[in-house]
Amino acid sequence: MIVRPAKRIHGAISVPGDKSISHRAAMIGAMASGTSHVKNYSTSADCAATLSCLQKLGVRIERDNGELVIRGAGRNGLLQPDGDLDCGNSGTTMRLLSGILAGSGVVATVTGDQSLRSRPMQRIIEPLELMGAEITADDGCAPLRIQGRQSLTAIEYELLTASAQVKSCILFAALRAHGKTIVVENQVTRDHTERMLGWFGAPIETGKPEREPQHSRFASVIGPAELVAHDISIPGDISAAAYFIAAAALLPKSALEVIDIGVNPTRIAYLEELRRMGFTIDETNRREHCNEPIASVTISDQTLANGNESASCTIASGVIPQLIDELPLLAVVGSQIPGGIEIRNAEELRVKESDRIAATVAGLRAMGGEVEEFEDGLRVAGRTKLRGARIDTRGDHRIAMSFAIAGLIAEGETEVVESDCVAVSFPEFFGLLESVVEK
Ligand code: S3P
Repeated sequence: MIVRPAKRIHGAISVPGDKSISHRAAMIGAMASGTSHVKNYSTSADCAATLSCLQKLGVRIERDNGELVIRGAGRNGLLQPDGDLDCGNSGTTMRLLSGILAGSGVVATVTGDQSLRSRPMQRIIEPLELMGAEITADDGCAPLRIQGRQSLTAIEYELLTASAQVKSCILFAALRAHGKTIVVENQVTRDHTERMLGWFGAPIETGKPEREPQHSRFASVIGPAELVAHDISIPGDISAAAYFIAAAALLPKSALEVIDIGVNPTRIAYLEELRRMGFTIDETNRREHCNEPIASVTISDQTLANGNESASCTIASGVIPQLIDELPLLAVVGSQIPGGIEIRNAEELRVKESDRIAATVAGLRAMGGEVEEFEDGLRVAGRTKLRGARIDTRGDHRIAMSFAIAGLIAEGETEVVESDCVAVSFPEFFGLLESVVEK
């Protein structure tokens, strides 16, 4: 895809349903007894992979007037799949589904594309084995062969990596464990699983553990537990909206409204960082829907950091898990504010769909940015006059979208290589961008 400089963006848009919440709706609906209707399910390839894996496990899922109709398999209702379960590029599919399979009566192999097969899975294998699951892996990576056990052991587990995927995997397995499973996290990660398990009637509790560091949180589930089907409507994906919000922040005289996106407190750190940089972002029509807060977000008439001459950005380590997917994009935004941006304690970025530290550093340097790379992050100088360049996205959707936004503010043309990869999370991305850009 070739991206050319834009003057401003203008319009009111809706973005696809939240990817994280969609995965959970499909999986929790599949485990429940009864029929759940899901509105605004994510259009992403990742969430399609979740549906096809569930269908291979015998779950009946149909589309009716744009809604998903999931006929839950109930307790112990999954069927032995015929062949491997292909999670494509989706880490969330693989890690969360493994938690379900661990406590099922089936033997299944989960696999994925080359990127997914190189990502670390020991982080889920360890707790699942403690719960009694039998898993064979290829040096800590997929394919994972999971021998389900209909009855698992409850555990108390402190997350070694701040990861909502690992937390959710354990909570799903906990539904089939005997007793109370407690997961403790020392850095807050997205809590969609906890909220949706509550929505589907699971015996889940969340809170702050006594005598633990201030930021610690726990989630506990008492198993074995029954889930009861519920209808659900998925809010727009804040991580997809993020690209458009960045474009509106960086292109003066823009006016953008993103309608009804999820504003869960564990997902809004990106908006808060933009506000700390000096940008004004408003929320309207805020309400709670299916246990998740949603609102429309507007951003208009910004000049870079709104004249805040000393604006710079250093992201505190505690919030890194809460804006992990937005970090490459924040690096692009940070290259424009006066004091630049420093991102540290973000080594997790190296094991995402690509090594996102290396990809972001290389992309910004190709466009003329002054960037220092660290093992755990990067520092980007501010007020950079970006030049169009050829961007190697490494087939990573978030790198492609971040540099498409960089292309809008650069001089000359930017070539986003392998740009089709945006379909992993946001197939409509380029079309929607075209519809709001004024050249
Ligand atoms: C996700 C959690 C995050 C995030 C990913 C989606 C989820 O991964 O990067 O895109 O839906 O739970 P980690 O929990 O592994 O950091």
